[in-house]
Amino acid sequence: MDERAIGVFDSGLGGLTAVREIRRILPGETIIYFGDTARVPYGSRSKEMLLKYTRQDMRFLRSFDLKAVLVACGTVSTTALPQVRKEHDIPVLGVVEPACRAAAKSTRNKKVGLIATAASIRSGAYEETLRAIDSDIQVKGKACPLFVPLVENGRVHSGDVVIETVVREYLQELKDWGADTLILGCTHYPLLMEVIGAFMGEGVALINSGAAAAEELKAHLEQADLTVSGRDGDAWFYASDRVQNFEELAELFLAEKLPHGAKKIDIEQY
Ligand code: DGL
Repeated sequence: MDERAIGVFDSGLGGLTAVREIRRILPGETIIYFGDTARVPYGSRSKEMLLKYTRQDMRFLRSFDLKAVLVACGTVSTTALPQVRKEHDIPVLGVVEPACRAAAKSTRNKKVGLIATAASIRSGAYEETLRAIDSDIQVKGKACPLFVPLVENGRVHSGDVVIETVVREYLQELKDWGADTLILGCTHYPLLMEVIGAFMGEGVALINSGAAAAEELKAHLEQADLTVSGRDGDAWFYASDRVQNFEELAELFLAEKLPHGAKKIDIEQY
């Protein structure tokens, strides 16, 4: 048992899809969450910029006493994580491997659709990981750059004509191609699960990368005997820009009140 906290970060609200799952499956853990809302979206940035942001995000999180970090950001997981992981002496887990393992398990026709940010699609990391698991799997990827700003603005609900139009625009070709499994390779996208699920239809399994990563974190902590039980966990939230909108949407997405609200920090100081 290790009572230290777990650090989680993303460019904004997307990583909350992982936090929600951690709170459910590891209820005794304390979570420190950072959303880099001043610099969202990450998905359109270069690799150099993403490395810089990731190092700063990690330095902020490491100002707390942590036992592990979950990088709840597909973009950082695909582009900066392999390098940054080596710079830390605690486990730093990402979302790519867990999502790919879940997709490989789920697909029957070996046609896996992938939606993610432009940087993640460009990296080829999901395809590479999937093919290493099963070389028969075909992958068709599609960058969906408009999804992140829409989610950050709370435009996630069925019946919202803007999000429904954008979903159709991006996903029609993956639907026509016949994918039976769709990786939501950006942690913002599970917040669109309802709209995406309705469009793709019941026969298509949606893989929530944040939730898959939370499951893998649990397995990792259990294996190393680091989980905490017998107490109620806690959660602290930080953002790099004004916290009012963040708090409102975070409570909606987490389906719980933030126990301590959210606090603004200056990420450029890290
Ligand atoms: N939620 C993050 C991801 O998984 C970042 C999206 C963005 O900031 O563009 O890719």
